[in-house]
Amino acid sequence: MTFPTPAALQEVRLAALAARGLRLAVLRLDQRPAAHNGNKGYKLQPWRERLARGAGRGLISLGGAHSNHLHALAALGREEGFATVGLLRGEPCLTPTVEDVQANGMTLHWLGYGGYRRRHDADFWQPWQARYPGLLPVPEGGCDESAAATCMAIVTELREGLAALGWPDCQQLWLAAGTGTTLAGVIRAADPAWQVVGGLAVPPGHGVEANLDRLLAQHTNPNWRLLDASRGGFGRIDAELARAMADFEAQTGIALEPLYTGKLWLALRQEIEGGALPPGSRLVLIHSGGLQGRRALEAQLAALAAG
Ligand SMILES: Cc1ncc(COP(=O)(O)O)c(C=O)c1O
Repeated sequence: MTFPTPAALQEVRLAALAARGLRLAVLRLDQRPAAHNGNKGYKLQPWRERLARGAGRGLISLGGAHSNHLHALAALGREEGFATVGLLRGEPCLTPTVEDVQANGMTLHWLGYGGYRRRHDADFWQPWQARYPGLLPVPEGGCDESAAATCMAIVTELREGLAALGWPDCQQLWLAAGTGTTLAGVIRAADPAWQVVGGLAVPPGHGVEANLDRLLAQHTNPNWRLLDASRGGFGRIDAELARAMADFEAQTGIALEPLYTGKLWLALRQEIEGGALPPGSRLVLIHSGGLQGRRALEAQLAALAAG
């Protein structure tokens, strides 16, 4: 998977880094357009290839009312002219994400909470495939082996970025994990000398560890770790998080979103402030995009940051 323009690897200046002799660069996957934003440009690539081979006439997938995955999927369907159907968690509501996916032609079905919980049942897809013949079912969050494989290309971009910055290497590479698909791809492709750190956006035991076991079964790079960045729950946001995001944006000009990259930065900042990183370390944070999902939370974030 190659993009016409490589993602920028941008070094940022922050007081917390300077005080400890550390350097940090952000891989700006967030700057890509909606259909390819963040990690989605990689995770959806195998599905584009299947459609290009004539395996189906469109895609059907699942997510919440703020889902970055459905947002990118709908934009891609619009861009490439294939049909998209979204199965949504909960009761009908109009969020900026829902407005966008509808504007991009995605057909929506609201499953309620009980109906959505049945998504792992063996016969879940059967009625949907009968209703929408030729639409390929994409697992929740786009999590599968082929998506992990295409996420390896993120490391190719990172290597180009390191060369452009004149950094010989990095000591730690941080990224957020929701299903662990992107993390698995990055671990597979990373230089074993770099430590890959996966910041869990969901609490431990919510599937990421099991997905990683499966997606890394044939792979040997041992230099990675997971840490709980979830702050007690996937959707939970609090004042410390809101302030950390606002402070990061004020110092670097880079916006984060609260569910993945904001929590990731706060976890990294805590390690920096705790003195866990040797002076001179070069760090990279992958900005996996998803700022679209933040639109519904702006007022809450501003109130928390100000409080
Ligand atoms: C913005 C953002 N970052 C990170 C992730 C985590 O990706 P993964 O599910 O591959 O762990 C997601 C979810 O897909 C996301 O939307």
